[in-house]
Amino acid sequence: MTAGAAISRRALLAAGAAVGIGGTLMPARTGLARVPAAFEPTQRLTLSAGETELRLLGPDRPATRIYAYDGDQFRLVRVPRGTRLEARFENGLSEASTVHFHGIRMPNEYDGVPTLTQPVVQPGGSFTYRIPFDDPGTFFFHPHCDETGQAGRGLVGVLLVEDPRDPAFDTEHVLCLKDWRLDDRGGFLPMSEPDGAAKAGTFGATRTVNGRVHLDLTAPAGGDVRLRILNVDSTRVMDIGVEGAEAWLIAIDGHALPPVPMDTLPDGIWRMGPAQRIDVQVRMPMEGGPVTIGDYRASDVFTFATIAAAGRVRRPRRGGPLALPPPKLPLPDLKAAEFHSFTLQQATDAAVKDTGLPPEDPLAKALIDSLCVGGATYWSIAQQSWPTGEARHLPPPLARMEAGKSYRIEIKNETRYPHPVHLHGHAFAVLGSSKGRLPKHFADTVLTQPGEAVEIAFVAAPGDWVFHCHILEHMETGMMGWFRVV
Ligand code: C2O
Ligand code: CU
Repeated sequence: MTAGAAISRRALLAAGAAVGIGGTLMPARTGLARVPAAFEPTQRLTLSAGETELRLLGPDRPATRIYAYDGDQFRLVRVPRGTRLEARFENGLSEASTVHFHGIRMPNEYDGVPTLTQPVVQPGGSFTYRIPFDDPGTFFFHPHCDETGQAGRGLVGVLLVEDPRDPAFDTEHVLCLKDWRLDDRGGFLPMSEPDGAAKAGTFGATRTVNGRVHLDLTAPAGGDVRLRILNVDSTRVMDIGVEGAEAWLIAIDGHALPPVPMDTLPDGIWRMGPAQRIDVQVRMPMEGGPVTIGDYRASDVFTFATIAAAGRVRRPRRGGPLALPPPKLPLPDLKAAEFHSFTLQQATDAAVKDTGLPPEDPLAKALIDSLCVGGATYWSIAQQSWPTGEARHLPPPLARMEAGKSYRIEIKNETRYPHPVHLHGHAFAVLGSSKGRLPKHFADTVLTQPGEAVEIAFVAAPGDWVFHCHILEHMETGMMGWFRVV
């Protein structure tokens, strides 16, 4: 964004600061937020959301009508670092949607959050996103409207930003983990049940990787394999482990870290909540059985992929892993950083703000649609809940911040369930956890365990950014807030 654009944007923020039902249904800012910015696309692309059929229950069982971009399950977009992408989203669904490019540092107006950064895209409508991809890594994109319904039906795309400086792996595999809520005829069960939404979430029973029960992969013996593993499930926390080979954790949420041998992690696994990604390097053994990759969280291990040797590399590498180049991200100044602490809790009635219009009032319905929220409130951040049900107002920001300034945020989980907490538009440094289990790394989502406090730090970027749990039902039942950065 140019300096001029930043100034006019600040003026817009001031002009549209008051958001509420009183004046207009659509907050004033949403209509004004078009900031002319110098943006020369280097690549153009259309993403059409629609329905397609997939045999999720197995080859001989009834098919399921899923949601997908361009008719492709987990549509893969691969771009080189530095790409300026102009992506035209076309909504071919019968419900409103938007696109959020998760984990990408970008101009706020393309962040895809209804009400806060753009109006929803109605069925048949379109919206053009202009996004610079400066950070290499494994990312994804998804709607930010009725997410339990739309992402639950499969509307998720994979975004790989490639760095020409990356070492040459012998093989790469992308693994998207997602459960589906299916009945035995391939239809969808309700995506959310109150008992799930108010607790750990409503789980899918059909577990898949890339839409299949299991993947049989191959790589040359002695070769170096890069696995890009994405938890694109709405609900499930997974414990990812590798058996039968040396393996290193080389990136988290796309961002490289000094490689960590997987067997030095507690229990030999990396715990990954919804929306989190890891890159793992596997060094195939010269001899011996297949390598297996699984989720070890439940006693009933879900072994979702096997890598068998096919051929062998000419010159096997020795010694350490192939480290990725370190990320180039704004480094927070921890000494000067301003400190905030936010507590994740079960919602109390006091957290539910309501101006008292009856729910059947058409205005109430229009507002709920424009906010893309659910009907009940179970969760809060700092005793404040994102509006649901008949609540009429966007809550005030959790914090007002200054662009370019450093912030340290403590996230305290005082609930009985894990919450993967995501901040839009930033890559934050994870400084540590009260349970001492996290290596220092950059991320866009951090898992907080019951009773745990996790600390993150970042340099604030201008815009209105949401901060929410990525268990989609939690987010839609209140566990979302926002930061205003000017
Ligand atoms: Cu994947 Cu609001 O996030
Ligand atoms: Cu949560």
